[in-house]
Amino acid sequence: MSFLSQPLPPARLNRCQLFGPGSREALFEKMAKSQADVINLDLEDSVAPDDKDRARSNIIQAIGDVDWGDKTLSVRINGLDTPYWYRDVVDLLEQASDRLDQIMIPKAGNAADIYAVDALVTAIERAKGRTKPIAFEVIIESAAGISHVEDIAASSPRMQAISLGAADFAASMGMATTGIGGTQENYYMLRDGQKYWPDPWHWAQTAIVAACRTHGLLPVDGPYGDFSDQEGFIAQARRSATLGMVGKWAIHPSQIALCNDVFSPDEAAITEAREILAAMEQAKKDGAGATVYKGRLVDIASMKQAQVIVRQAELIAG
Ligand code: COA
Ligand code: MG
Repeated sequence: MSFLSQPLPPARLNRCQLFGPGSREALFEKMAKSQADVINLDLEDSVAPDDKDRARSNIIQAIGDVDWGDKTLSVRINGLDTPYWYRDVVDLLEQASDRLDQIMIPKAGNAADIYAVDALVTAIERAKGRTKPIAFEVIIESAAGISHVEDIAASSPRMQAISLGAADFAASMGMATTGIGGTQENYYMLRDGQKYWPDPWHWAQTAIVAACRTHGLLPVDGPYGDFSDQEGFIAQARRSATLGMVGKWAIHPSQIALCNDVFSPDEAAITEAREILAAMEQAKKDGAGATVYKGRLVDIASMKQAQVIVRQAELIAG
């Protein structure tokens, strides 16, 4: 074990990130009243090129006018390969109220992408006397992004979260699919004539989780496009939660409750985690590093696993 201890991620809920196009301002009030922990107002790929200016001014106005409650409020800017992104950053930082918490940077390819946005944001914050620093979240959705994910995670003290963007990722990797996330029909193993379907996103997800955990960020699973397939969404979300991700995007309101359910530990898990901590407390008093709980070994590692669940339960309880 390294002598450097692993930093904790930001102490905030990120079970569900609800997206809505900046060009559909009629959705903003509905998004604000939803049960999502994070709101992502979009300037990027859900907004047509001719609508970029209007979407930007809609969003700037709504940041100040709508009551967003205690949600984390984030705006997804356009990618650094477009002519739009600098205007997104300049207008948001110069004109939006300080209710804005976060900027989401899509298609990050390397740490220099984040450096460029950081330099611009920092200059505008100083010029305008903005005292609340804007946080960053990033989408890994390209071959370059996943290759440089650890550098990206370490790129700026503004960094708080990284999401996997399955659709652009699949395109960049040349994957033979048009689905957004989930099981892929042709990605199967065969045994005794029976097919079963492993998870093609597993490698990218674990790479993101490892980079995030190393640098104290929140790892998040991105969109699941087929919003009429709730069972498929739940299966994808449960796999992500099992791998260490803290939440998932919702691209339709029907996915919000599913996110909150999958990424909130249930009562039985919380009770068991608290009992493991109590058993370990007793073991410590008895001078032991390990003990038996419900017929199985628990030790200091089990205590850390239990703490993950208890910390999440405490955040949810407020
Ligand atoms: N946030 C909040 N409410 C939403 C919503 C969203 N993202 N999308 C739809 N709704 C509302 C609708 O206004 C409607 O409300 P009503 O019952 O008061 O009329 C209700 O939920 C049902 O909507 P529905 O008719 O099923 O969806 P739609 O056809 O209006 O829109 C999408 C479907 C997918 C186009 C829309 O949900 C959307 O734009 N999602 C976000 C896309 C996005 O941001 N992508 C970028 C990230 S991948
Ligand atoms: Mg994308």
